[in-house]
Amino acid sequence: MKMLQAMMLFVATLVMAQANASTDALTDAQTEKLRERIKPVAEVCVQGDDCGGPVVVVASGPRSGEAVYNAACTTCHAVGVAGAPKKGDVAAWDKRLAKGFDATLANAINGLNAMPAKGLCMDCSDDELTAAIKFMSGRE
Ligand code: HEC
Repeated sequence: MKMLQAMMLFVATLVMAQANASTDALTDAQTEKLRERIKPVAEVCVQGDDCGGPVVVVASGPRSGEAVYNAACTTCHAVGVAGAPKKGDVAAWDKRLAKGFDATLANAINGLNAMPAKGLCMDCSDDELTAAIKFMSGRE
């Protein structure tokens, strides 16, 4: 009888362990959400580094400001890395653009302090950079 009780306890323990295991496991969607939550806010990449390749896929025709921003500028301009003016921070962009759009565009093309030339989007045309700046500064 003792033996039977012991076996039932053992089986019950197994069943519970099994139940726990399945509630602990995350679904793919949960894992994806978790990854999203714990990923770094931004990664800084300076000119000359191999930064996993910026990013912009060759497309036919000019890309929209939003597409260029998402592909190449968001890393720094979403959160303001190293003093980068943030997307949608109109006041910050007003100050930048006070010197004129062309001068601001020239700084984006040539680089300015921690801002790498072309924001590392080496295959971005001037028009595409213009569109990205307009998108970031809320001037679309
Ligand atoms: C590695 C980070 C980084 C990336 C990527 C980046 N920027 Fe910047 N950007 C900066 C920083 C930092 C500044 C502020 C520089 C300063 O004033 O010292 C800045 C400033 C600027 C300015 C203002 C220049 C001025 O004259 O005041 C423009 C325009 C700009 N970025 C455009 C872009 C565009 C367009 C992209 C994407 C194609 C981009 N940036 C990608 C970091 C970045």
